[in-house]
Amino acid sequence: MSLTAIRFDSALHLLDQRLLPRESRWVTCRTAAETADAIASMVVRGAPAIAITAAYGMALAQGAGADMALARAALLASRPTAVNLRWALERLDPLLRAGADLLTEARRMHEEDVAINRALGAHGAPLLQEGVLTICNTGTLATGGWGTALGMVRSAREAGRAIHVYALETRPYDQGARLTTYECSHDGIPCTLLADSMAGALMAAGRVRSVVVGCDRVAANGDAANKIGTYNLAVLARHHALPFYVAMPSSTLDAGCPDGASIPIEERPAEELFAGLRGVSVWNPAFDVTPAELITAWVSEHGVSREGPLP
Ligand code: MRU
Repeated sequence: MSLTAIRFDSALHLLDQRLLPRESRWVTCRTAAETADAIASMVVRGAPAIAITAAYGMALAQGAGADMALARAALLASRPTAVNLRWALERLDPLLRAGADLLTEARRMHEEDVAINRALGAHGAPLLQEGVLTICNTGTLATGGWGTALGMVRSAREAGRAIHVYALETRPYDQGARLTTYECSHDGIPCTLLADSMAGALMAAGRVRSVVVGCDRVAANGDAANKIGTYNLAVLARHHALPFYVAMPSSTLDAGCPDGASIPIEERPAEELFAGLRGVSVWNPAFDVTPAELITAWVSEHGVSREGPLP
């Protein structure tokens, strides 16, 4: 059975990604406020999945006759870096003003996302060579289905290519260790887990041929915000003369944002990094910015660009 993380019947059901891989439990959201809480607390995560979830949250609010401005504000504030969230809400704005049914549009976004990832995967798959290093989780769990960076791997494998995934643990939240390994083992994708600190040694050992990552926001100049640790990987990749690819559905492009320095970077609670120390301050940014000059190509549903993100 294929994995799925988001379902909607009369309510929104989210696979609780905080508990994976040990337990598959679903959280039900009946209001926009519950949906915003689920996004903020990482029940659901990954930029495209957050966008779809927010759209369903707006549909819940509309169905309940709730205050739509409040619902929108709560959803928009739930996670600040993934621009897909804002993109989804802005797509709904004119429909809301016209009194159209938001659930229909949310379902359309959900289905479209799978098609977008399939197209992105088809464009990106030929770039990949055996031995793909990746960070965080960018697969079905992070999207409407198929995935972006991990979707490129899926597309390459579907085309008959033997691709081995090296999944970084992704401290401090362990999306790689808990979610990417889970997806890969679920779908029979050969995968090796390693700690973040081992990436350089793996490259030096000649086991990596390409690095591919997802992103939460790409600025107009091509700088890309993605999971903390991505920048380190890009620097390492440059040192080892390895290609570094950013998989970005076009909803991740923030054309109004000039460069990486203008991207808001979310800081997560100290307890997600380490619980229990008193009197020690903690810096826990969820994302970092990789400068465009370290990116070999941007891959979207529209194709592959080596000059900068495609509009
Ligand atoms: O904090 P997360 O787990 O939401 O971070 C997710 C990422 O960094 C992903 O790489 C990004 O959202 C792209 S998911 C297709």
